[in-house]
Amino acid sequence: MQLPVLLDKLSEFLMVEQGGLELYRVVASRCTDPALTQRYEAFGQETAIHRQVLVNLIQRLGGDPNYVSPTARLAQVKAAGLLQGDLVVDGLSQQELEANDLENVLLAETKDHADWHLLQQLAQQVDDPTVKQALQEVVDQVEDEEDTHLSWARDTLSQLALKLVTQGPAPAPERWQQVLTGPVPPIEQIHPAPIEQGLLEPARLSPWQETPVVRALRSG
Ligand SMILES: [Fe+2]
Ligand SMILES: [Fe+2]
Repeated sequence: MQLPVLLDKLSEFLMVEQGGLELYRVVASRCTDPALTQRYEAFGQETAIHRQVLVNLIQRLGGDPNYVSPTARLAQVKAAGLLQGDLVVDGLSQQELEANDLENVLLAETKDHADWHLLQQLAQQVDDPTVKQALQEVVDQVEDEEDTHLSWARDTLSQLALKLVTQGPAPAPERWQQVLTGPVPPIEQIHPAPIEQGLLEPARLSPWQETPVVRALRSG
């Protein structure tokens, strides 16, 4: 088994949990449906525990939770990208905005679920007994919750979208009018290639700066 590769993956998975935690804070803070808000808060608390579980696992395997692997930086950029959607919500109704938040949760939980599924498979296949034991313990603690996070997000998003389509409310007619009759800008203006906006921006952080995970843990 290649321990450095595993530690790089765990750094990435830790960043995914950190991004999820930030996402849950944002979506819970502006959700107007009490049942959804309650779920976001509960899943956010579980995500905070997953973060701590991964910090402990990395230390137990001899790694440094303060280390940010290259794929962890990518995970950070992706998580920031989901939150960046909040900057382009003009024209969305409150219902559409909240459905978009839930869609972001579904995207984040899809990755989170895949991470823990991989750890579960690794726990079965790895031959080093110490690593196997450590992986099995965290998987036993977390995996069922990840199953719930993903299935809840998927089912609730489809319920929400079905309700919107069948019962509305429909958007104001002016909005359709504007979309249908407005001049169509070149596709490059609507969807600029992400690479032109500077890929991997956080990779330019000074190497000695504290990681987002460590800063977040410190601020409580
Ligand atoms: Fe998680
Ligand atoms: Fe999750």
